[in-house]
Amino acid sequence: MSGTWTVRVLTLFPEMFPGPLGVSLAGKALENGVWALETVDIRTFARDKHRSVDDTPFGGGPGMVMRPDVLDAALTAVAGAPGSPGRGRAIYLSPRGRLIDQALVRDLVAERGLTLLCGRYEGVDERLLEAHALEEVSLGDFVLSGGEPAALALIDACVRLLPGVMGNAGTAGEESFEGGLLEYPHYTRPALWTDGQGGERAVPEVLLSGHHEKVRAWRLAEAEAVTRVRRPDLWRPYAEAHEAEWNAREAKRRRRRKNRLADKCSAETGEGQVS
Ligand SMILES: C[S@@+](CC[C@H](N)C(=O)[O-])C[C@H]1O[C@@H](n2cnc3c(N)ncnc32)[C@H](O)[C@@H]1O
Repeated sequence: MSGTWTVRVLTLFPEMFPGPLGVSLAGKALENGVWALETVDIRTFARDKHRSVDDTPFGGGPGMVMRPDVLDAALTAVAGAPGSPGRGRAIYLSPRGRLIDQALVRDLVAERGLTLLCGRYEGVDERLLEAHALEEVSLGDFVLSGGEPAALALIDACVRLLPGVMGNAGTAGEESFEGGLLEYPHYTRPALWTDGQGGERAVPEVLLSGHHEKVRAWRLAEAEAVTRVRRPDLWRPYAEAHEAEWNAREAKRRRRRKNRLADKCSAETGEGQVS
């Protein structure tokens, strides 16, 4: 692989690439050589006269299965034999895989590139997955008709994190899943907007205050609130990690309140003590 972050996609439908990755930020970055895309047509590795890439499943049942010999030839030609030096990460997009998350995306961006195998039909012969030690990665708990949309989504998530792709480098650090939280809500002009039903909707005042510390605190509180309600799975580990910090803050707040009351009391009585 060259120094450029390179994705190799093995697919039966190479015309689906770069597709949406050819426009906007990813498209510009592709044009500028920030990343590179090699699309490989699996069918060119078929050896029989019908150029078949699939066959019926042993044991019976519906659908067709992608042949291990054809996929082995394609993967070996494109990425190298299993275990060969410099092969990089090889992934099979599959509903049985680990769910794609921001941590995986960050890991993949740190590689020099990756190889993605897009399945079709009922999927891929299991022996191929074992022989090439392919990682299985899923876009979500639903079944797509092919791995291509999942590959496009995964590549998009990776490319936007490559240095120089996003205009404002600070943006990525505040987005959903960074720091274990969903993102806070956004607002822009007009500050007072009348919706289609005549309702007046104002922007939260703190965002117009110009007070950076208050804005930061408000955003954190909003991010925590939306995460707690919508994603208890994210909230639990976040809350555990921050519990000691919150307890310390609460204890400080109580101490301050007690001291204030004590001061007030002694000012009123000239001697009072609050216990
Ligand atoms: C129709 S699906 C096969 C589904 C498979 N028979 C099953 O029930 O698990 C065809 C191909 O789409 C891709 N695919 C489907 N759902 C996916 C998902 N959630 N994430 C990633 N790839 C997916 C895989 O590459 C798969 O081989």
